[in-house]
Amino acid sequence: MAKRYLNERVLIFNDVHLPYADEKAFRFLSRMKVKYNPDRVICAGDLCDFYAISRYPKDPNHPDSMAQELKKVRSGVRRLAKIFPDLILTMGNHDDRYAIAYSSAGLIHDMMLDFGSIIGAPSGWKILKSTEDFTFIVNSTREQVSVAHHRGINTSLVSQRLGRTFIAGHTHTKAQIVGHNNGIRTTYGVNSPCLISYHGSPFSYAKQSNINPIKGCTILLDGIPRLEILKT
Ligand SMILES: [Fe+2]
Repeated sequence: MAKRYLNERVLIFNDVHLPYADEKAFRFLSRMKVKYNPDRVICAGDLCDFYAISRYPKDPNHPDSMAQELKKVRSGVRRLAKIFPDLILTMGNHDDRYAIAYSSAGLIHDMMLDFGSIIGAPSGWKILKSTEDFTFIVNSTREQVSVAHHRGINTSLVSQRLGRTFIAGHTHTKAQIVGHNNGIRTTYGVNSPCLISYHGSPFSYAKQSNINPIKGCTILLDGIPRLEILKT
């Protein structure tokens, strides 16, 4: 991607939960790519669901084995890789499920396949552990921005503590930007909207709660966030 020092654009999306993504998510992300021509693309975690190896009680009617789910995950990754051949992924708690299953079996890290190989990620995808924030400097303002899947639901508070803009996924049902000006700079805490479909997914139980996911992505324009909402 070409480097720019003004009008820097970053596209952040999260909580796709492959293979349980909203079917409109791929076209939506393609549209966002055309609209913003981002310098940087970040997936803020829960790219995959790994429902079949969840430790939680499962729906006995759920049809997919892990083999079937992984096949669909890889297909989703291929579709995303066509849109974004270069991407930074900060892993989420669902992406971590395979590693938890490994360690539950007594395997150590050196015996595990890496996440990128499991999901068939292209070479242009840089994958960071869920314990790592991804922090970068906005070229036009020289200020730092951090992105992580989840480090407290209250991203405004995290942003104030860090003294920089902080963007997180994880919440699914909350999409908001809260600004804070400490007299020196304005920083933002962002709960970025998701791209999962609760319909027919392991999250279908949540539909009964009358709280539905808010879908979309976050765009940073010269360090200032805005939300793009996918109308469903
Ligand atoms: Fe999630």
